[in-house]
Amino acid sequence: MDLHELLRSLRVWDPEVTELRPFDPKAAPAEPLPLFANWFAEAVAAGQVEPHTMSLATSDEEGRPDVRTVMLHGADADGWSFATHVGSRKGRQLAARPFAALGFYWPALGRQVRVRGPVTAAASMESQADLHARSTGALAAALTGRQSEVLGSLEELARVSAESWARAQQEPDAPVPTWTLYRLLPEEVEFFQGEEKRQHVRLNYRRTGSDWARELLWP
Ligand SMILES: Cc1cc2nc3c(=O)[nH]c(=O)nc-3n(C[C@H](O)[C@H](O)[C@H](O)COP(=O)(O)O)c2cc1C
Repeated sequence: MDLHELLRSLRVWDPEVTELRPFDPKAAPAEPLPLFANWFAEAVAAGQVEPHTMSLATSDEEGRPDVRTVMLHGADADGWSFATHVGSRKGRQLAARPFAALGFYWPALGRQVRVRGPVTAAASMESQADLHARSTGALAAALTGRQSEVLGSLEELARVSAESWARAQQEPDAPVPTWTLYRLLPEEVEFFQGEEKRQHVRLNYRRTGSDWARELLWP
């Protein structure tokens, strides 16, 4: 089938797989974090595949945007956290422009969450502890390193990756100095609840000093 024909044949929020729940913004908490934790737990309970993956948008030195998927490592009063190599493309972009946006999409519930704000890198010890609390595969991938550099061949990757897996299995505390935990401290968090008749509810939290302003947005 032609791509455009295929695109036109697709719908979002098929009632067979998506449950659109009512969302009353008046009942929403004063801060975004408890609502995020609640929506996250509901996404897991609804069987959402990989709800802990998110789009991470950064911009380069010229202000040109970039985006890729990463794992969410945590969300608390210090911010939303993720980890990567400091020398990767995104790491270099964050060094030049320490601001980012995160996007979560949970189709099982027709929900989207957007988070924007400044990003800081955690101290090396904390970054290593975060890595070593994760799986052997995560450590092996981090040990492989050279993220975003040009790769000569898949054979080269296979060789380095096999070495990294062997080391990760033998040395679960192997340090990866370039591996860095980052925290995005939110200035804005938007919750989007899809609605069948397109009366989507958008609730935006905006930081105002130590408080949060809440406002509805036109969908
Ligand atoms: C589901 C999924 C999860 C990922 N999680 C991470 C992650 O937590 N950290 C990371 O550095 N890359 C992760 N990646 C790979 C990134 O999307 C990206 O390819 C890589 O980080 C290089 O991005 P960059 O060149 O913009 O720096 C993930 C990819 C996918 C598809």
